[in-house]
Amino acid sequence: MNSLLPTYGPRTIEIAQASGSYVTDVSGKTYLDFVMGIAVCGTGHRHPYVQQKIEDQLNRVWHTSNLYLISGQQRVAEKLTNGTHLTHAFFCNSGTEANEAAFKLVRKWTQKTKIITFTQSFHGRTFAMLGATGQEKVKHGFGPMVSDFIHAPFNDMNALDWIDDETSAIWLEIVQGEGGVVVAEASWLRALQEAADKHDVKIVVDEVQTGIARTGTRFAYEQTPLRPHVVTLAKGLGSGIPVGAILTTPEAATVFGPGSHGSTFGGNPVAMAAAEATLDVLLTPESLKHVTDMGDYLKGGLSRFVDGERFVEVRGLGLMIGLVSTEPVADWVTELAEVGLLVVMAGPHVIRFLPSLLVTKSEIDEALTKLEQILQKEGVV
Ligand SMILES: Cc1ncc(COP(=O)(O)O)c(C=O)c1O
Repeated sequence: MNSLLPTYGPRTIEIAQASGSYVTDVSGKTYLDFVMGIAVCGTGHRHPYVQQKIEDQLNRVWHTSNLYLISGQQRVAEKLTNGTHLTHAFFCNSGTEANEAAFKLVRKWTQKTKIITFTQSFHGRTFAMLGATGQEKVKHGFGPMVSDFIHAPFNDMNALDWIDDETSAIWLEIVQGEGGVVVAEASWLRALQEAADKHDVKIVVDEVQTGIARTGTRFAYEQTPLRPHVVTLAKGLGSGIPVGAILTTPEAATVFGPGSHGSTFGGNPVAMAAAEATLDVLLTPESLKHVTDMGDYLKGGLSRFVDGERFVEVRGLGLMIGLVSTEPVADWVTELAEVGLLVVMAGPHVIRFLPSLLVTKSEIDEALTKLEQILQKEGVV
């Protein structure tokens, strides 16, 4: 009998070992991993520097709670915010928790309930975040939702009509990950920022998937005209050790006082060791340039499959890339795993590529060869 709740689909691959861009399953089969725990292991699997820092921490202390000072939190907060207009951090354990913290913060700050999120967005699966998420499939059977989330159209100037003096916050992903790797357009973001300024509306950017160098900058919003009041993070922050965070401006940092929010595990010493080491590896000019260069290289390689019929577009930022098909891609994802390449869908029609941010050209070439092999077999190319 399967003693797990059936919240996930059938899972046939169990990974037993992982290193860099490669994983090996329990039968000994090796795969090139272009999923990376769904945009989590940005430094690749078991990066030696990150592993060493985690091991050093494991040899000192694992957990203390936030009753006691955890100095790693201060160092990680500084590494996340230095050189930006953001100044403060709160640590939690996941993306959904980070978004919940941001939700509480803007509610308390503005004392308004109306929040604008966007169609096809994904913000998590707690009750408030189900309400925030602009995809019906995640809400099905759980209604009524936390009220006052309005799903305005993404990349559409009609969204501006919803923004008024009653609006607490505009809440968005710069690249919608689960929604199909859809990149927000700069002109639209500029218009959102202007409307937010006009009506004193707060801006929350959900960088849970885009954050920590995934798009070629520390945060994706840095490539846009937006100046968010709150940024939410998780996934790539700990290289695979669970950690989430919100970052705030100085004004937003005055909203929570002692007792207004907290977490037993949040900012735990082991999580902070993982986060600090991850930032050391990824937030260098060389690493960020590498992400942009490899992203361009992968996009260029994928664009040769775009024929306007079966594949219509390659889109994304940095190493968060989608190959958009006119047909469902689930079978191709399965077949790619069979030939040793792990990729993940972003909605039914998009094959999503989320390799290690340290991925090499030859690993990208290997992925492209495997993709070509499958598409040739299917008579697509
Ligand atoms: C943009 C975004 N926000 C929030 C979440 C939820 O994060 P978590 O699964 O860590 O709770 C995800 C997860 O895919 C995400 O992509």
